[in-house]
Amino acid sequence: MSSPPSDLSDGTPAWFWALLGASETGQIGSRLQALGLEMRDGLPRGVDTESDTQAQTRDTFGYKWQRRETYESESGLAHMRAWLIERYGQPEKFAFLQDVPGKPVVLDAGCGAGYSALELFSPIQDRIRYIGADISTAVDVAKSRFNERGFGDAAFIQADITNLPIPAESVDAIFSEGVLHHTDSTKNALLALAPKLKPGGRFMFYVYRRKGPIREFTDDYIRDKLQSMAPEEAWKSLEPLSRLGQSLGELDIEVDVPEDIDLLSIPAGKINLQRLFYWHVFKAFYRPDMEIDEMNHINFDWYAPINAHRQSAEDVRQWCDEAGMEIERERVEDAGITVIARKIEG
Ligand SMILES: C[S@@+](CC[C@H](N)C(=O)[O-])C[C@H]1O[C@@H](n2cnc3c(N)ncnc32)[C@H](O)[C@@H]1O
Repeated sequence: MSSPPSDLSDGTPAWFWALLGASETGQIGSRLQALGLEMRDGLPRGVDTESDTQAQTRDTFGYKWQRRETYESESGLAHMRAWLIERYGQPEKFAFLQDVPGKPVVLDAGCGAGYSALELFSPIQDRIRYIGADISTAVDVAKSRFNERGFGDAAFIQADITNLPIPAESVDAIFSEGVLHHTDSTKNALLALAPKLKPGGRFMFYVYRRKGPIREFTDDYIRDKLQSMAPEEAWKSLEPLSRLGQSLGELDIEVDVPEDIDLLSIPAGKINLQRLFYWHVFKAFYRPDMEIDEMNHINFDWYAPINAHRQSAEDVRQWCDEAGMEIERERVEDAGITVIARKIEG
């Protein structure tokens, strides 16, 4: 295979051009155009126009992923790594990637800054062909972070995952951690991505779960307030809430909910006061080893994007079925639902 011209390749690996159907020098420009992409600042980028809600969501994430100092602490990364392994398992043991001849293609749909992907896949990164796709400029941050870790063979594309110019049945696994619910429709995003999987391929994803009525109300209310603000202003507006979360957490006291409050979906039992607020009133994240900016980052991630749909486990099961996938592994928690689903052959 001849190598793509340097003015277009700019770090994008040849295998990715081949996957897009442009393996010969000189084909890339016309192929990109045919796929609705253009080369800008060294990466292929979609030229689609988004809905207003998707554009607002894109901009909030573009902003937050630039703020690397608020999510790259060693303890935060270690916490995320453990969280991911607990839900998906250890990537060295993913038989569905080992059984593939050659290097399996892994699509990180909504890669952001590659935060989760780097934490989960680093041990096998040089044994896979990784594609990071995101609608926001976070892909540029992801590319830098992968390069810093020595993973220069990864490919990145700035595009909408509901309209990705990647051929059908070309991908061995899709990883979409905390993304599908940030599109205009969680279900449509799932249905748009599943055809990209080869038969027998796996779709690994996490989506938000619907909460109790007060939390749902507060979430909608704050999100509605923030959507007219620029990201910097939204970030600032959330700081008092984050500081309250910190105060509640530092109190470190338990309260007893004497009996189930069915009306508000609050179960009986002893619960830390910060957790009572967190699960049932508003999201104000707290971890004793985190700085206030790191906690604000997590609260911003939750409240700033206007697209943040919550779903039930039943919804997710039905959508997987409609997408021709059978669920192999499912974990349903208060916060969200983690799934590994297998694309059914034939
Ligand atoms: C919570 S972040 C998760 C990022 C990454 N998966 C991780 O776990 O580190 C959600 C990401 O989804 C991206 N996103 C939202 N809607 C998208 C869409 N329609 N197409 C592609 N990316 C999208 C956002 O830009 C954002 O970077």
